[in-house]
Amino acid sequence: MRVASIENRLLDFVASSMEEALVMVDNDLIVSFINDAAKRMLRNETAEYRGKNVYNIIPGPPRTDAGKTPLEEVIETGIPKRGILRTTPDGNHFSLNYTPVVLDGEQIGVVITVQDVTPFVSLEQELDLAFALTLPNSKVERRLKSIVEYRDRYDVETKHITITGIVENGGYRHVVNCLKIFSSLAVAGVTDLIGIEKDQLVQAFVFHDLGKSQPVLSIGDVVDPKEVFEDSKLHAQRSAEIAQDYYSIGDDIVEIIRYHHHGEHELPSSFPWRLLPMFRLFQLIDGLSAAATRGGVPVRFAVRDCTVEVTEVNERPQYNGTWRINLYTGDRIKI
Ligand SMILES: [Fe+2]
Ligand SMILES: [Fe+2]
Repeated sequence: MRVASIENRLLDFVASSMEEALVMVDNDLIVSFINDAAKRMLRNETAEYRGKNVYNIIPGPPRTDAGKTPLEEVIETGIPKRGILRTTPDGNHFSLNYTPVVLDGEQIGVVITVQDVTPFVSLEQELDLAFALTLPNSKVERRLKSIVEYRDRYDVETKHITITGIVENGGYRHVVNCLKIFSSLAVAGVTDLIGIEKDQLVQAFVFHDLGKSQPVLSIGDVVDPKEVFEDSKLHAQRSAEIAQDYYSIGDDIVEIIRYHHHGEHELPSSFPWRLLPMFRLFQLIDGLSAAATRGGVPVRFAVRDCTVEVTEVNERPQYNGTWRINLYTGDRIKI
């Protein structure tokens, strides 16, 4: 009997112990459950919220292009939405997840969970400001921010991609992600290696994609990437000239930028061995950052002597797994 009553009240125990706010609404937007954290967030812990329209309690967010709120879209489509960011007028940031509740095959409502992410967003904004200060001038910052990146889904059979999202400030986010990954690898010891120069690589990341030009695509477009995206070697060449002629970047870094989309076997014979460890590390980080910028792919690193071990979790099977890359010999093995 006692066990049964504990089980019955388990949802209450779990919900009231959560730091995340949790609100359940029915298909008519009426609140059927609200936990203590949500009441604390609304700053009125004694008010009665059940039975009220959710938008009488929480101001509605901006409507989407379809003229609906994200919650209304989830009720209509039954497709969950995660990580929707909202900023309140007093400058706090919240991340919301909307999960449909299905009972006996019928959707009866949506559970909304809300997490206060203000400290993380503020930290990210501070990091962005700090990064902007390291850029040579506002033209570089504007150029990087003007480069869009696309999220996509790849069809192995047709070899076409479907555009699923647009990353605004994509070029800027990509460089910030490169520097974040590089700093994790530096902490793991990669900059202790002869041939890996921290300041030079930072410059390479800042300048390497400045000459990039992206096609204009919309969400839902299905395209052959080989047709619509320019051969990457061309923007590498342009970026190298920009770095050399407008910003007087040193010859070694200009060479790494010029060839950053070449395979090792395509490098000219004049390319010196001493630059290969940095070249390999650059290409590794560039690829990981591109994946992280487009889809937030988690990665783990370990550095041993002149080898870097990378674990990547990626939707595309060819990138999924753990690799050991030897920066001196170029050996790359999947383990
Ligand atoms: Fe590039
Ligand atoms: Fe890049």
